Amino acid sequence: MTQASYPATRLRRTRANGWSRAMHRETVLTPADLIWPLFVTDGSGVEEPVTSLPGVSRWSVDHIAKRAKEAVDLGIPCIALFPNTQPNRRSDDGAEALNPDNLMCRAIKAVRDACGNDIGILTDVALDPYTSHGQDGLLDEAGYVVNDDTVAVLVDQAVNQADAGADIIAPSDMMDGRVKAIRMALEMNQHPNVQIMAYAAKYASAFYGPFRDAVGSGGLLKGDKKSYQMDPANGDEALREIAFDIAEGADSVMVKPGLAYLDIIWRAKQEFGVPVFAYQVSGEYALIEVGAAAGVGDRDALLMEKLVAFKRAGCSGVLTYHAPRAAQLLNG
Ligand code: PBG
Repeated sequence: MTQASYPATRLRRTRANGWSRAMHRETVLTPADLIWPLFVTDGSGVEEPVTSLPGVSRWSVDHIAKRAKEAVDLGIPCIALFPNTQPNRRSDDGAEALNPDNLMCRAIKAVRDACGNDIGILTDVALDPYTSHGQDGLLDEAGYVVNDDTVAVLVDQAVNQADAGADIIAPSDMMDGRVKAIRMALEMNQHPNVQIMAYAAKYASAFYGPFRDAVGSGGLLKGDKKSYQMDPANGDEALREIAFDIAEGADSVMVKPGLAYLDIIWRAKQEFGVPVFAYQVSGEYALIEVGAAAGVGDRDALLMEKLVAFKRAGCSGVLTYHAPRAAQLLNG
């Protein structure tokens, strides 16, 4: 600020009182901006805390239905489901993903029974919770994740989830061409209103560790996912990924992880003007929890500051394990 404008312009003037700060606030976060990810496990009446995700548990299907009702009561419009498949149901080809009675499908139906259409059910499409090797697709002899054969399976997985009642199909596999293939299959199988939220810009990130513990794929995974997930150094390539997914029929796109990629969220929103969602991933969540427990700062203040940043960057919403706590705080 130049000397000449002072004191005519005092940017502190509007900050002096709470009422004025509220009036001038540019970005507002509401419970409707949140998507709550939930981990599903077998059995009944089961809660299994995930050690690397403090405060997050795997729940059996009966509990999942209760969590979904809580979401409705908190004003959270959508939940995302992730299965922890029993080891004996995992295989090289991830065939359990196509079982109409698998954990995911049973959870979808239980939530629908409990909540009707009061909640959106988002389901992840990728094979890693079902493969014995922890990769998201099918492997050739060299261990490379093959693209087109994987897409063929993902299409069937998506239709299986839609048949069970999923509202939003979220392919997180990063195969080329899968959005178009899934869109066509949904149309041909009487699911014209089932949405696709494409994990369009998904990076090969070090922040996914606790999630892999939660779905039980971490210990199985050999190598990394760099031949399909993106290089964290790339931004222009993310825009190309997003452009393709929109052209192929995505209703909304996701950037993942969240906080380290706010520039990608911003660019995607500016360039395409489509609904952009962020996935604040497991490692991001865990760092806040662990940091707060170590005295770095107030947990609630830390998490709310990060969530509002996603909105400021242009997000329509955020997939976050903090969703229930954030909604509680927002509801006062
Ligand atoms: C599976 C998938 C992953 C996450 C969401 N879907 C893990 C991975 O790609 O290895 C990570 C989410 C998180 O860390 O919270 N394709």
